[in-house]
Amino acid sequence: MLDLSGVAAIVTGGASGLGAATTRALVDKGALVTIVDLNEEKGNALVEELGGAATFVKTDITDSDQVSAAVADATSKDRPLRVLVNCAGIGYAKRTLGKNGPHDLESFQKVIDINLVGTFNMVRLAGDAIAKTEPYNADGARGVIISTASVAAFEGQIGQIAYATSKAGVAGMTICLARDLSSVGIRANSIAPGIIDTDMLAGVSDEFRKTLGAGVPFPARIGQPAEYADVALFLAQNDYMNGETVRFDAALRMAPR
Ligand SMILES: NC(=O)c1ccc[n+]([C@@H]2O[C@H](COP(=O)([O-])OP(=O)(O)OC[C@H]3O[C@@H](n4cnc5c(N)ncnc54)[C@H](O)[C@@H]3O)[C@@H](O)[C@H]2O)c1
Repeated sequence: MLDLSGVAAIVTGGASGLGAATTRALVDKGALVTIVDLNEEKGNALVEELGGAATFVKTDITDSDQVSAAVADATSKDRPLRVLVNCAGIGYAKRTLGKNGPHDLESFQKVIDINLVGTFNMVRLAGDAIAKTEPYNADGARGVIISTASVAAFEGQIGQIAYATSKAGVAGMTICLARDLSSVGIRANSIAPGIIDTDMLAGVSDEFRKTLGAGVPFPARIGQPAEYADVALFLAQNDYMNGETVRFDAALRMAPR
């Protein structure tokens, strides 16, 4: 079992929602966390809340120089970098063929660039740093990477073409990463959440929230970020969990719309 009290970790999207909950959970276990996010206000507020156990590095995950600077922050702590949790991402809604014509290519590419290419950019640069640490057990384990897909990876709804494609990429990456990184003792897993109460739902009315919750088999409610963080901790700590994308959706299967 990976003892989180002895590690440095990076959480992307760590200033908000699922990433913020994961940052809190890792710090609660004794980890030192580098929060990688674009949102300075929320990032700095969380650092203040966590009192020295976290640092914030304003980073666009699609920018390699900025990601390298964030990884340098994580490797400058007095513990080995062993954990990367990728939560940074954006939502987007547009149909392939809309009332005003075909989906524009720029916004499709932007969603893929942030959600998929940005995730891979973090994986390659943080993974390189984790690979340079000393193993922490007799198996030769060095660390773990957890990425965030979505149930949209499997049941993309009408209007989710860019988002669903980006998340299918994250899910598809998982087994390949686990295999690629096996030689350096790094595990790779992903979480595919259903509907969780974060800023991604900020624009949704209370009434629609209830409707969304009622459509979940059991428990019939929207999930909480801390519940996601629990899964992330499990995937980080358990040395035999590797190459898996875990649905985290209370048995929800999305309908076409
Ligand atoms: N909330 C849900 O219901 C849900 C469901 C399935 C999947 N997800 C996925 O979970 C992840 C976290 O989402 P959330 O709900 O916590 O949303 P959120 O909006 O609360 O958090 C996302 C964070 O990512 C950051 N971010 C966006 N682009 C970035 C970039 N280029 N570089 C660095 N940071 C960037 C934002 O600033 C924000 O703080 C996302 O990948 C999302 O697609 C969320």
